[in-house]
Amino acid sequence: MPKPLVTVRTVAALRRAVAPWKKRGDAIALVPTMGALHDGHLALVARARRLARRTIVSLFVNPKQFGPQEDFIKYPRDEAADRVKLRAAGVDLLFAPAVAEIYPPGFATAVTVSGLSDRLDGEHRPGHFAGVATVVAKLLIEAQADFACFGEKDYQQLQIVKRMVADLDIPTRIVAVPTVRESDGLALSSRNAYLTADERALAPTLHRTLLDTRERIAAGMAIADANARGIADLTMAGFGGVDYLAVCDAETLEPLDRIDRPARILVAARLGRVRLIDNEAFTPTSRGRPAGNDRPRSGTRRRGGSSR
Ligand code: PAF
Repeated sequence: MPKPLVTVRTVAALRRAVAPWKKRGDAIALVPTMGALHDGHLALVARARRLARRTIVSLFVNPKQFGPQEDFIKYPRDEAADRVKLRAAGVDLLFAPAVAEIYPPGFATAVTVSGLSDRLDGEHRPGHFAGVATVVAKLLIEAQADFACFGEKDYQQLQIVKRMVADLDIPTRIVAVPTVRESDGLALSSRNAYLTADERALAPTLHRTLLDTRERIAAGMAIADANARGIADLTMAGFGGVDYLAVCDAETLEPLDRIDRPARILVAARLGRVRLIDNEAFTPTSRGRPAGNDRPRSGTRRRGGSSR
């Protein structure tokens, strides 16, 4: 029988729940989520449970990270179903605050990680990463987390959170968890639920294009040419628009024109009304070729990437 899942909805109640754990010296791992939980989130929870004696999951659909034209109102919400999954996963505490608890009247602070937040998704979703950084800073401090787990699926977010924690001396270790994929390579995402059957059939092309682009670069094609070819492949396959396909420094996300350091290849493209993102590691070997063969195999879900 799984242990009961305690739910708190205020920062004061969260602090009361955490105080005895801190007093006993129990380590705390936080998994920040916006709910609509899938196996990718459960992989974060599993990692958190291995890291620390106490696991907290936050469930908060953060209005500050949605643009005016984005899906804040329609974002999938099913707390009851999420609670069942979290209880079965052995989570100790669910923090599920209302918007007014996190942003009470008069709230006036924003955390901005400049540079990193302006590239890639930042160019297409103005203000998004300030919204993420602001809420994540609050959650880490409120939960007094020793560890916090983030998926590599949202790779830019992961780098921004790491930078923020380092810059602000927040005493939380940020732990990256590999992307969980369907057997056809599609990265798990709460927004996959918006895909029609036809779009779902096309969606794995996004990941295949990342792998093809990486292979072409490894085989000697110039990065700019390989990116242009990948964008053409996605457009031909039926993607409505490609926001970016880029090879970047794995930490700063500055664009690269040669693979002379750990790199990441990242993509964002639209399929109907759904915007999908994905990424893969691009680690040069001594011969300048990328390491690993991440072609999806048929079978069950798998962890993708070499390193959400
Ligand atoms: O990745 C997400 O689900 C969100 O961006 C996060 C980290 C929970 C902040 O709202």
